[in-house]
Amino acid sequence: MLNIDNIVAGYNTSVALENVSLDIPEGKIVSVVGANGAGKSTIVNAISRLVSVYSGAIRFDGKDITSMRPTQVVELGVVQVPEGRDIFPPLTVEENLRLGFHRLAGRKDAARRYEERFSYVTGLFPILRERLKQRAGTMSGGEQQMVAISRALMADPRLLMLDEPSLGLAPMIVDQIFDILARLRSDGLTILLVEQHADEALKLADYGYVMGTGKVRAKGRGEDLRTDPTLAQSYLGRMAEG
Ligand SMILES: Nc1ncnc2c1ncn2[C@@H]1O[C@H](COP(=O)(O)OP(=O)(O)OP(=O)(O)O)[C@@H](O)[C@H]1O
Ligand SMILES: [Mg+2]
Repeated sequence: MLNIDNIVAGYNTSVALENVSLDIPEGKIVSVVGANGAGKSTIVNAISRLVSVYSGAIRFDGKDITSMRPTQVVELGVVQVPEGRDIFPPLTVEENLRLGFHRLAGRKDAARRYEERFSYVTGLFPILRERLKQRAGTMSGGEQQMVAISRALMADPRLLMLDEPSLGLAPMIVDQIFDILARLRSDGLTILLVEQHADEALKLADYGYVMGTGKVRAKGRGEDLRTDPTLAQSYLGRMAEG
């Protein structure tokens, strides 16, 4: 569904991705793991068109999106839950969800679609239904992550990209969020998951990529990467501990 073909990308001053290629098949979860600064977020931001791509191509459904604007990429249904969640703290939970619906708001059947998306996300995260009028900034870290994921799901994405959803959350909440991701996959959604928690992320994934300073160091089935002892030592320090 999404294909990154040999891209070089970065930030005016520096190259952050060197000849990176990556495939995300429809209906699968692909996890990108690696240490701090490896280039994980840069991959997500290159797909969202928030980072300059100097060469190579990014295709979605075979269509070249490399020179698209970020809003056009969202229009296609490629939606990201950014690192650090990035919800709007002064707005209520409901208002945050409404912002996520923006992609579908202009459609003829918008009212019906809103109800449908709303019942889907509150079915996934029932607690949100009780907190609709609460200001998002006053929610706990885990609840804010649920709001951020729900906001993205309101857009009815075709590809959902999550950048370190586990950041700063207790293990129990992380498990809960990963369970939701598995549920989304069984509902047919395609997911790109970027994580420093390599063990859990590769366990969940169909396929994985291990990044090390701007390059893909290994790729394969999630479970194979997870149990590869050479990777554990070289790039997945945390895994070796576990
Ligand atoms: N806005 C920016 N301007 C310049 N360089 C940047 C910028 N953002 C990231 N970089 C650099 O690009 C490289 C890759 O960063 P990236 O954020 O993609 O790593 P990451 O794997 O997501 O790390 P982390 O696990 O810490 O989130 C790093 O060397 C980083 O310093
Ligand atoms: Mg990052």
